[in-house]
Amino acid sequence: MPPVIEAKGIVFAYPGRPPVLDGADLALRAGERLCLVGPNGAGKSTLLQILVGLLMPTAGRVAAFGRERRVEADFHEVRRRAGYVFQDPDDQLFCPTVAEDVAFGPLNLGRSRREAAEIVAATLDRLRLAHLADRVTHKLSGGEKRLVTLAAVLAMEPDVLLLDEPTNALDEETWDRLVEILKGLPQAMIVVSHDPHFRRAIGTRGLRLAGGRLTDLDERSRTDLRTGGHRADPVETMDGEG
Ligand SMILES: Nc1ncnc2c1ncn2[C@@H]1O[C@H](COP(=O)(O)OP(=O)(O)OP(=O)(O)O)[C@@H](O)[C@H]1O
Ligand SMILES: [Mg+2]
Repeated sequence: MPPVIEAKGIVFAYPGRPPVLDGADLALRAGERLCLVGPNGAGKSTLLQILVGLLMPTAGRVAAFGRERRVEADFHEVRRRAGYVFQDPDDQLFCPTVAEDVAFGPLNLGRSRREAAEIVAATLDRLRLAHLADRVTHKLSGGEKRLVTLAAVLAMEPDVLLLDEPTNALDEETWDRLVEILKGLPQAMIVVSHDPHFRRAIGTRGLRLAGGRLTDLDERSRTDLRTGGHRADPVETMDGEG
């Protein structure tokens, strides 16, 4: 089976800046939860945006769902089928209420009002967010916003998930719930995370982005998934196994 999403030799620079990505290769296969690590500013979020065509690389190729994607029109289908949770929830939520934000995707995909309402109710229920349905989105807490962005993406029933720092701002209980939810999803996913415990909890494989390129973290090594290829720092010992 070909990868669900594949990027080869990606080169990208923001205007007037040196390349952020300089020959980055990545392949996401069915059933994988691929963790992406790397220092701040390494280009992880940039790479996710390239995979869905929000940014266009200056060199390299992107293939998704069995087809090479070159021009903007090619990426419409990719964005429909790839659920992308942005690093900053405020970039993603723009409707007056939570229910409307979660309904936006299904309505946009052609669902009826009634169908969308059912999907909203089921999705919020599944994420235990039903109590937030009528809240004003921009007045939610950071962690609440984070979960609502995930709900908004899951409501579109995407074929693949791209999650940028999904554990940001989550309390421990919510963190546990997110792990449980993600592990229960059938979709392949790419997850950017600075959270070593989270990577170890959900990751099936890891890649590290540094110097514009991606290298494999040793997939057999749980330590690598946990530390992102770094020497374990003191926090790694806090999970009792470090
Ligand atoms: N719109 C932009 N214009 C110019 N430079 C940008 C822009 N967006 C990001 N950058 C720069 O590109 C580099 C990569 O940014 P990116 O957000 O992809 O990093 P990241 O790996 O996601 O970092 P973090 O872990 O902090 O989220 C950084 O140096 C950043 O300052
Ligand atoms: Mg980022």
